[in-house]
Amino acid sequence: MSDIAVISGSSNMPLSYILAKKLKVDLTQVEIRKFPDNEKYVRIDGDVNGKNVVIVQSMAFKPDEYLMESLLLASAAKDAGAKSVTLAAAYFPYARQDERFKPGEPISVAVVAQLLTTAGIDNLITVDVHRHRVLDFASIFKGKWVDVSVMPYLVDYGLKAGLIEKDTFIVGPDSEALQWAKIAAESAGLSNYGALKKKRFGDTEVTVSGELNLEGKKVFIVDDIISTGSTIIEASKTIKEMGGKLTGVACAHGLFVNDALYRLYKEGITEVYSSDTVPNQTTRVSSAEALSKGILEILA
Ligand code: R5P
Repeated sequence: MSDIAVISGSSNMPLSYILAKKLKVDLTQVEIRKFPDNEKYVRIDGDVNGKNVVIVQSMAFKPDEYLMESLLLASAAKDAGAKSVTLAAAYFPYARQDERFKPGEPISVAVVAQLLTTAGIDNLITVDVHRHRVLDFASIFKGKWVDVSVMPYLVDYGLKAGLIEKDTFIVGPDSEALQWAKIAAESAGLSNYGALKKKRFGDTEVTVSGELNLEGKKVFIVDDIISTGSTIIEASKTIKEMGGKLTGVACAHGLFVNDALYRLYKEGITEVYSSDTVPNQTTRVSSAEALSKGILEILA
């Protein structure tokens, strides 16, 4: 579709480039920089009049900066005559603050969704977005929303790398991850999948338990995010206690904060990989195809 203009935010140029190629367009040039006082400056240096503009952004690690950049780009695109503005949020920030866990807290994910509408963003595409308490982004975002999944791509890689076989049990480390285990298993025609149960006590303190029959089974974990690695470490211990053999771990968004990867490796969890929504040293799979399908679906 030649009426699409893809704009890359500054967070994930490689993904933007691959995505633009999949959509058969060149990236629209933009100038993004900071003023001396650290405020953001953006300028679209191309014709987006009458176009369906897609802004690609992975809002991890510097969520506030990338969010602000996306809002400014969206507003600039609308002012320049864009027919529609779609935010392809490969990594959507603040999704885990989806509830008032303690009095006085905001529901941050809803605030972010409102800001997108205010800036003129009509459509939102997310990738395996964290949905625990807010199950449907349509309840917090006014425009069209599509969530695409990289789970089939992650599983495909695991099959080719020999980490997943036809009799492997796909496990989500907590109840929310059952949806990803299901997509992952079904996409590869695997019949065994399920989820463990997690209790969180703090940023890095979690316990994982479960009632799955994993005795003597090969087990592969899928999750949306690996951040500190605590969830995966505790899940792997539980799988071992249940008699399962962990063959690998894949996630959509590999944040691996601080020494997370080292902590995983120290526990013997070395077969870990992720998609390019948050580029990192374990990235093996691209989200570009899933995103391009989502974009064509939303613009159809
Ligand atoms: C939260 O429930 C998510 O689905 C992930 O399980 C979580 O973000 C992983 O965080 P961590 O690696 O810090 O345990």
